[in-house]
Amino acid sequence: MKPVVSYLTEDRHPSVVRTLLNRQAHMFGGESTIASYVADAGSPEFDSLIVTRDNRTRGVILTRRRFPETVEVHLVVVDDTVHRTGIGSFLLREAADRARHAGAKMLTVRVLAEGRGHQGWVGVRAFYEANGFIPLDDTGPTVLLAKHLPELEDWERSE
Ligand SMILES: CC(C)(COP(=O)(O)OP(=O)(O)OC[C@H]1O[C@@H](n2cnc3c(N)ncnc32)[C@H](O)[C@@H]1OP(=O)(O)O)[C@@H](O)C(=O)NCCC(=O)NCCS
Repeated sequence: MKPVVSYLTEDRHPSVVRTLLNRQAHMFGGESTIASYVADAGSPEFDSLIVTRDNRTRGVILTRRRFPETVEVHLVVVDDTVHRTGIGSFLLREAADRARHAGAKMLTVRVLAEGRGHQGWVGVRAFYEANGFIPLDDTGPTVLLAKHLPELEDWERSE
């Protein structure tokens, strides 16, 4: 089912990130990790997009432009009552679109390697791979994944 998005904001809402993460705290291993993401959500270092459906906030993505060529996905979190309804993919597409128009050539993300952290992280890697990310490096506790963003005119033709 395609997400029916009623509202997408680029404002910073750390409290929304806290609410979404607290509901899935088992994935994030404790209050200090959640507090760190909440702080990031309020920081100008990160760009955020928030998606609302049925008058409720359903998902957030935080990204960071470390280099002119790349945008790093720092966090995607979707309301656990609406997982697998396309909202996470929608947020990735929106972030990719903004990154491409800002001149970036690649999206990157690090996810916990299999066997590290909560079992649910296996699904997180599958989520990124389903969205066109490929693995680049799995030598540490995390796996680095990346997705190439096509040239702008090819990108716009594919939209
Ligand atoms: C990971 C997460 C963001 C995915 O968001 P979502 O809106 O549920 O994902 P989508 O509906 O867009 O999924 C698209 C595809 O990704 C894959 N996918 C998503 N979640 C998956 C899972 N748990 N296991 C396996 N594949 C999965 C599937 O191929 C899915 O397509 P399908 O549902 O038609 O099979 C969401 O599960 C979440 O918020 N998890 C907790 C927070 C988290 O771990 N965030 C990542 C940290 S950066």
